[in-house]
This record gives sequence, C-alpha cells and structure tokens, in this order.
Amino acid sequence: MNNKMNTQAIPTEAEVVARVEALMGRMSLEEKVGQLTQIAGAPFFPGPEPAEVIRQGGAGSVLWLNDTQQFNVLQKIAVEESPSKIPLLFALDVIHGYRTIFPVPLAMASSWDPSVAERAQTVAAREARAAGLHWTFGPMLDIARDARWGRIVEGAGEDPVLGAAMAAAQVRGFQGPSLGTPEHVVACAKHFAGYGAADGGRDYDPVYLPESRLRNVYFPPFQAAVKAGVGTFMSAYMDLNDVPASGNRFLLSDVLRGEWGFKGFVVSDAMAVGNLVIEGFARDGRDAALRALSAGLDMDMASGTYPQYLAGLVEDGTLKLADIETAVRRILAIKVRMGLFEQPYTDEAKLAQVVALPEHCQEARLAAQRSMVLLRNEGRLLPLSNSLTNVAVIGPLADSMEATEGSWMVFGHTPAAVTVLEGIRARLPGVKVKYAPGPEICRDIPSLFDEMMPGSNEKAVQTPEQAEAAFQEAIATAHTADVIVMVLGENANMAGEAASRASLDLPGRQEELLKAVVALGKPVVLVLLNGRPLSINWAAENVPAILEAWEPGSEGGHAIADILFGDVNPGGKLPVTFPRKASHAPLYYARDLSHQPEDSPMYRSRYWDGPTTPLYPFGYGLSYTTFSISNLKASASQVKLGGSVTVTADVTNTGSVAGDEVVQLYIHQKAGRDSRPMRELKGFERLTLQPGEVKTVPFSLGPTELGYWSTNAGKWVQDAEAFDIWVGADSLATLHVELAVTR
Ligand code: BGC
Repeated sequence: MNNKMNTQAIPTEAEVVARVEALMGRMSLEEKVGQLTQIAGAPFFPGPEPAEVIRQGGAGSVLWLNDTQQFNVLQKIAVEESPSKIPLLFALDVIHGYRTIFPVPLAMASSWDPSVAERAQTVAAREARAAGLHWTFGPMLDIARDARWGRIVEGAGEDPVLGAAMAAAQVRGFQGPSLGTPEHVVACAKHFAGYGAADGGRDYDPVYLPESRLRNVYFPPFQAAVKAGVGTFMSAYMDLNDVPASGNRFLLSDVLRGEWGFKGFVVSDAMAVGNLVIEGFARDGRDAALRALSAGLDMDMASGTYPQYLAGLVEDGTLKLADIETAVRRILAIKVRMGLFEQPYTDEAKLAQVVALPEHCQEARLAAQRSMVLLRNEGRLLPLSNSLTNVAVIGPLADSMEATEGSWMVFGHTPAAVTVLEGIRARLPGVKVKYAPGPEICRDIPSLFDEMMPGSNEKAVQTPEQAEAAFQEAIATAHTADVIVMVLGENANMAGEAASRASLDLPGRQEELLKAVVALGKPVVLVLLNGRPLSINWAAENVPAILEAWEPGSEGGHAIADILFGDVNPGGKLPVTFPRKASHAPLYYARDLSHQPEDSPMYRSRYWDGPTTPLYPFGYGLSYTTFSISNLKASASQVKLGGSVTVTADVTNTGSVAGDEVVQLYIHQKAGRDSRPMRELKGFERLTLQPGEVKTVPFSLGPTELGYWSTNAGKWVQDAEAFDIWVGADSLATLHVELAVTR
C-alpha cells in the first residue's frame, strides 16, 4: 500500500469548500446518502457485506472494525472501485487508550489536571491512527451525578467547570492543534445531551432536565468541546424532555449550530435513528429518517435507516435535496481536512512501531499516579516501608488485568495490564509477596458486551463451596502476613454502558472478607479498583488506609505501588460525591437549598434513617503531607456588572514531604432572579509544593463565572447581588470572603 507520510499542508477554509463542491458535483443521490451512512464492520453485527456496500458508494464510514489490513482492503475498494472514489472514515471507541491503556476518564478527572487527559489522548490518538483509525467516539462529556449510572466511569464526574476543562483537554489531545495534524484523529463529543441524568440512574432511561439545568450544568463541557474545535458530535440515546436526543432540533440545530457555531457533523449513537420508532416518536423507519435528518443529525450509525429511506424521501419531495447535501458537505469537509484524499491508507508496519512505546507506558503510569485519591490514612499507615518483607495482597481484583485496565476497552483488545500484585512484587524484589484472590465477583445479570466482544473472558461463576474455600484461603494467607493490601471494588464490566447498579456496595463477599481480614488486627490498606463511587461506609470507619485507584490502566499496578511505597505522593481529588447509600443518589454538592438547611440541629428532615451528608465530598482527597490555605483576598469587595475581580489565597505545604494540593474556589450567589446552588466550583489549580513552600493562587471571577442561565429571565444573566466565595481543599472549604456585584 501507498505509505508516504501525512505531510500535506492543512487546507484553508476556501480550499476545503472548493474541494467539497467539486466532489458534490459528481455524486449521485445514492452516493450522497452513502456518505451519511456508517456501517458496521463487526462480525457480530448482521447486515449486508461491507465490501459490497462500499463498492456501491453506500457507506461514508465504518465502525466496530479494528484491523489495519482490513482497513486498507476496504479503503482500496472505496477509493478505487466506488463511483466517486471517496475515502472512508474508520471509527472506533478509543476512550482511554488504544493499546497503552490510561486511567478511565473518571480517574483522569480525579487528577484535576487537564494536561493529564490531554497527554493521554495524544498517545491514544497516536496509537489509534497508526492502527488505521481516523475517528474516535470520545470524549464522553456527560455530567453524571448519579453513581448508579454505569457510564459515570466514562466522563469527568458531576461538575460542569471541571468537566469543561477535561473536555477541551481531551479534544486537543485527540485532534492536535487542528484537524489533519499527523498522528491524530477526529474527536467526537458525546452523548449530546443530558444522558447522565437518566431516571433512577438506569442506562437508556429518559431524562427530564429543565433548560436552566441543561444550560448551566449539562451543556458547558459540550460547548467547551466546540470551542476547542471538536470535529464531530454524537447524539444521545434517550428522550430528553420527551423528545429523543437523536430527533431533537433544539439540541442538534438551535443550540449546537445556531448558538455555538459548530461546523462539524453529528453522528447518531448506534442504532439511535432506528430507535426513534421504539421511542414512540417516529411512526416508522421512513419517518425516523426524515425527523432525524431534519433535526440536524448528519450520519446514521449502523441503524440502516438513512440508506433505506433518505433517497426516497427526496424523490417524493418530502425532503429537499439541499437538506441532504448540507449534511454531506459537513462530512466531506472533515474527510478533506483529515487529509484522507491524499493519504487514505495506513502503513501496516506503523502500529508495531508506535504501540506501547516506553514513553507511552511512562505517560500512562504518570497519569495513573496523578489520578489516584487517598481517602483515608489513619496513623499515617501509608506510605508503607520499603523494607517490608511479609506482605499479603488479597482480593479478587488484585491480579485482574481487566479490572486494572477498566471498562471501555477498545474493540478486540486483550487486557495486558500490570496488576496490583505485579506492581507490588516489582516494587519489593526478593520479597515473597503472598497472594490470595478470595471469592470471585461477578454481575448478577451478565453483560451483553462480554458476550459480543472478542477477547472478553468473563470467568465462570464459582460454586458456593469453591467461594468458601477461596474465602478461607484468603484469611489464612492474610494471617501469615505483617501488612495486608486488599484490592477490592468492581470488575471492569460492572461499570460502563448498560452497567448501572441498584447498589453501591462492594459486590459479592468482598466486604465480608474485608471485615474478616481487618479482624486479624494487622495493618490493612484498601486499594479500590472501581468505575463509580462506592458506599464503603464500613471501610471508611474501620480500614486505616484507603486509596481510590479507580481503573488505572495498563501501568496501574506500578502506579499503585509507587503511591503505596511513597515514591509518589497522591494528590488526586474526587470529581464526584461519594454517597453513603445508593438510595441517596443522585447526590451532588451544587444543590439549591430549599425550605431548611439540611444540617440544622432543629431540622433533621432529609432522611430519618441516616445522615444525608456524603461519605466523601466532591473535591476531597488527602496527601502524605499537610497543607494550609490562608490569606483569602479579593482585589475588590465590589465589582460592577461585567467587571472582573481577582481572588487570591496562599497555600502552604505544612508537612515534611513534597506534595500536590488542588486549590478550589467555590461561589454562592445569595439572591437573584433565580435561586442559585449552595456552592459552585468556579476555579481550581493543582500545585506542587516543597515542604514549607508557600504559593499564592490567583483566580479570576468575571461575568462568565458570576453569570448563569436564568429560568425567570429565559436567558443568560448576571445579577447585581452579593456572593459568598470560599477557597479550600474540597467542596466543604470554609475560608470565606464576600463580594458584591453592583450596577
Ligand atoms: C455507545 C456509544 C458508542 C457507540 C459505538 C453505543 O452503544 O452508547 O458511546 O460510541 O456505541 O460503539
């Protein structure tokens, strides 16, 4: 195959338009519809033979295929045999790494360091592009405030400001400085919009969000992606306020293009155009195609509805040809910008040269280190001594590559992570580290994706007798050790798509095992591998050291050992609230206060069967050192509408080792046209400080931070009112000043 490097200059806007028009001039209606059609390349997916569809000009893009050779075979058919010879876009979900696997996005958000996510997605793009992929279905930008919802693992958590920063960083990482940059791919901001607010945290269930909440909370990461130049958007599966997101003109046209000026194209989620019928919205497939396209949805992912109906809709005059052409132009423009016409093929030797390079592994290890959150460290049990000689590593996830790499593996990828056990063994050479997994854990209802995906290896369920034997063996192993590291949490298939849970407890017999091991009276460190907040109430009271390692990726075991043994000081913070019980979900910090303060001694009114406060608040995380935050000042106590003030605070490392603190600024607007949340994050900064070092952190508060979308006004407003400002180390920060916004 032709392998010259992708060195062509990035075309100007005028050149893109001219080239697109030249192509449009020679395409038939069927080929135009073909460009709006994404077909599945996966063997598990029934449908017409991809090569034949492509030969007829019936596909613009292929997904669910991960095979460089096959990409080249199909591309050759597209560019040599199809009528207009337009190259295909090859697309796949590369969510947190292609072969070098990074921490899951929720973990990367815990770094509170957007550069972590940017560098991760740069590596992911490099490997994916070398494999022949042009387009990833990421980043996932859904705000998620309900820990039961399985897809919370794919996003940046509950907050729009943190979410927007992570969104822009990921787009930059995937795409590079502009579309068409070598070794990068097109990003896709998904799932537009509101998907994370599913009723009951049940995946795919409907969402009801008032416009104020959409605009103030759910939209900002998406708008940040547009500002960062994201090439594509994906519509969400569910009904938003009774209008399916994939047939939703308000979302796909009015807001996305009209207000935000998005110029790329929108793809549906898989099967979502066809789903408009299931949703009781479209009468039939023909109506679904009509309504999706009219709403602003350009490409049909795998439902086969556009290719079946669009041409007929134009021919009978129901749709204007111009409507279809607008969508085609958007897709062709991305292909031109990506340089696909100059370089449609992939060098089949390239992947082996870039995959899992030492520098990629190093980035993954660094990202994992920066993503971990120290939840508890009583009596400074951590870091552990390097001279330990008698350590036991216990738990069903301790040697699990799947749980270490986490959910959303690239299609066809076989996990190859450094597990926690391996990481600890590598850290203690010459020491015989003991290991016992204890009883296996598995889903009550198996995962659909495990059955579909090649390479998945969901283990057979143990019999109760086998589980009991494994339980006893784990206790016996722990019994002989001086220090025990328990590795518990959730399997990779317990979070992610179609992986919602009604409980947030440790699944299976894990808590029982934890209690039995703690009862041995030895020092116990709990390492959590999980893709969502877990209600670890017992552990939070009884296990002296707890490290939230999330699903840390292929270098996860090394990164965990780096932290456990003090080579690295943890500095991550929670991007989501940890509820005490699943029944408290959705629980998030940025709530409005209604009727009575929830913590007033007089009014214990929220629940009578337990505190409603979080187990761990948003923004929380400890370090091996201590910090003090002081000297909070605003450059002025009053600011005029539209003006800006600078707020500063000093952060001091008051401990004896270097460490990172994430300084966070929260505001509360005390009155206004609408009620405003008790607290809202408006700025954050992760800093490294040497012992005794002091740094002053500046935050700017202007109309963007002090304004909001008002229900009463029906528009963006800024009110001339008083504000509380807090700066601190988590969302319970107490250091306070006031600010008055005046006319
Ligand atoms: C998911 C998307 C994903 C798509 C393609 C859908 O089931 O909701 O997030 O990008 O499949 O794999």
